[in-house]
Amino acid sequence: MSADDQKRRSAEGALAYIEDGMKLGLGTGSTAEHLVRLLGEKVKAGFNILCVPTSERTAALAAELGIPLSNLNETPALDLTIDGADEFDAALRLVKGGGGALLREKIVAAASKRMIVITDASKKVETLGAFPLPVEVIPFGCQTTAAKIEAVAASLGCTGRISRREDQYGEPFLTDSENFIYDCAFGRIPDADELAKALNLIPGVVDNGLFIGIADLAIIGTDEGIQLVSRDNGESPR
Ligand code: A5P
Repeated sequence: MSADDQKRRSAEGALAYIEDGMKLGLGTGSTAEHLVRLLGEKVKAGFNILCVPTSERTAALAAELGIPLSNLNETPALDLTIDGADEFDAALRLVKGGGGALLREKIVAAASKRMIVITDASKKVETLGAFPLPVEVIPFGCQTTAAKIEAVAASLGCTGRISRREDQYGEPFLTDSENFIYDCAFGRIPDADELAKALNLIPGVVDNGLFIGIADLAIIGTDEGIQLVSRDNGESPR
């Protein structure tokens, strides 16, 4: 079974957690896209839902599928957010932002009573950091900010190449909020909790891709079915 099949399987598993009438945060990325398409089918069949998307990309797809959309100013409190991840560990700490949407993803998840992560089996790691950590930075003074990121990270045992993300034309990648992303190839993040806090204290850093204490449940698509990992109770195969 391919990773994409596993992603679809995890998205199918997440449907069971979406109740009629819910206010739902909609994630970004290829796994979340499976969910949006499945939800589109349910909406067509009469399911009642109001969704807040975490990116312009997700908003465009959901609108195309006829999913009713809102935003956090109109709908400030959500029941649930379902989103993908680039990595997660046993404590359900996540690295996100591979698709560049980490800021809106974190704001939307934090506005939700619960967050469910949907992933393929490859995303589970012992220690976070193999996936380069995305950090969203204001363009003004970005090189100074990047130097501070490097120093702060090094003081917490994280070293590695820190590079500004580029788009397919070799231009700086811009987020939906028109900021830059610095991808930090640390390889290993020994203290993710401290790094997440320390990075966000640097002037010029808008947010970082570490989601700590936010996700409640991971639904992992595997070749055998789905596996659930909950933040409180550990693993329970199904
Ligand atoms: C988007 O910014 C990310 O946080 C995605 O949720 C993450 O990159 C997972 O993407 P895939 O579902 O495409 O693997």
